[in-house]
Amino acid sequence: MTPFPATESTESRLRRFNAELDRLMTASRDQDGHLPDLMEAATRSMTGMLGIRRASVWLLDETQKELICQCLFDAETGQIDSGMTLSAGDFPSYFQAFQTARVVSADDAIEDPRTREFADTYLRVLDIRSMLDAQIRDFRGLRGVVCCEEVGQLRPWREEERAFVASVAEYVGLAMELAGRRALAETLQDTNARLTQALQDAEAANIAKTHFLANASHELRTPLNGILGGAAILKLAPELSGDSRNWVEVIERSGRGLLQVVNSILDMSALEGGNFVLSPQIFNLNDAVAEACELATPSGETAPALMAGPSIDVLADRRRVVQVVSSFIDNAFKFAGHAPDVRIVEGLSAGQVRVEVCDHGPGLSDDQVDHVFGQFSQGDESSRRRHGGIGLGLALSRAIADAMQARIGYQPAEGGGAVFWLEIAEAGE
Ligand SMILES: Nc1ncnc2c1ncn2[C@@H]1O[C@H](COP(=O)(O)OP(=O)(O)OP(=O)(O)O)[C@@H](O)[C@H]1O
Ligand SMILES: [Mg+2]
Repeated sequence: MTPFPATESTESRLRRFNAELDRLMTASRDQDGHLPDLMEAATRSMTGMLGIRRASVWLLDETQKELICQCLFDAETGQIDSGMTLSAGDFPSYFQAFQTARVVSADDAIEDPRTREFADTYLRVLDIRSMLDAQIRDFRGLRGVVCCEEVGQLRPWREEERAFVASVAEYVGLAMELAGRRALAETLQDTNARLTQALQDAEAANIAKTHFLANASHELRTPLNGILGGAAILKLAPELSGDSRNWVEVIERSGRGLLQVVNSILDMSALEGGNFVLSPQIFNLNDAVAEACELATPSGETAPALMAGPSIDVLADRRRVVQVVSSFIDNAFKFAGHAPDVRIVEGLSAGQVRVEVCDHGPGLSDDQVDHVFGQFSQGDESSRRRHGGIGLGLALSRAIADAMQARIGYQPAEGGGAVFWLEIAEAGE
């Protein structure tokens, strides 16, 4: 405890107090703001500077109805206590007083109406004669009090002492605010680190999935080509009965369907893995679209005829353009149940040409429009069961269009139905 002379001038006392507040601030920075240490430093500082025996820090609980002692320093024994509680129900006048005034200065604590509730159970027991308390506040408002107690004699608190204790209380509030913000920053950093990890895990899992699909699809394609080749040769055998020929055709059709699914999965994993290679060339769009019409028409149905229009050359990957347009036509047969109108439209945007596939089926609901271009997404469960497919056609078409820097889209058809379109660059533009 710093001894202080009774004859000390106000000015010298103020200088001492100011220097002490500076010291506390610097120490708190060096201690890295550990709250219990800061509170203990505050109580030691008050006993030392005021030459009193007891000083303490109390914080309100969440209900604001109880004060809990964080640190009580007894300068004579050097002992530190904590955990004692004071409740608003037992000491209503005191709670009222410190909640409304920044400083409660009771020179004669046993007589003072704000503190005399403590007289029998506390003040007389410990021979406490004077109390000087100040509010601890942070950005959330009132958080507690710092409390100075003179033992064995009355202490008329001086103006500068009240100001000093109020400053120490402010310092505790500031320390709490900083600690709170630091904890918040740490939590944020933690959450951020966890999210980053989760993202990396998800990316790794996605890469693993793509590899797996690519490998599995390759392994499937080899025996499938054997089956299709075998069926094609078998069909040529003259001794085959009509019935057997039908069964060979079933094998061929199913095999081709399966090959298409496997190819879609391979394409998708190539696109996702960044291994998708395009072969751009200049070709006649009308011929390519006519080819798609033939390809995508189920056996026994009449292929859609390309509607009359200009003959146009484009620059793109021909095989992929045929694939995308085929997938629109295939969908029209599946979901509208008839051959679509297929046409080529020029002049919608400069240098671009559109292939439109228009049917008069049920079309898409707004909700479906948002999803159909996503992977494995199908309109609804019942149509999935009815029509088969794995919901990759449009997702693949969109990814292919993106890779070709082409555009793809949907709009409702006039009078009901669906229009799917692909827009690509004209050659020589
Ligand atoms: N012309 C259409 N009319 C109505 N609904 C359609 C049409 N085209 C697509 N859809 C809806 O969009 C969904 C997604 O189509 P997509 O081509 O991606 O998958 P799929 O045809 O079900 O399967 P896959 O093409 O892989 O064989 C379909 O399941 C269907 O519900
Ligand atoms: Mg499809």
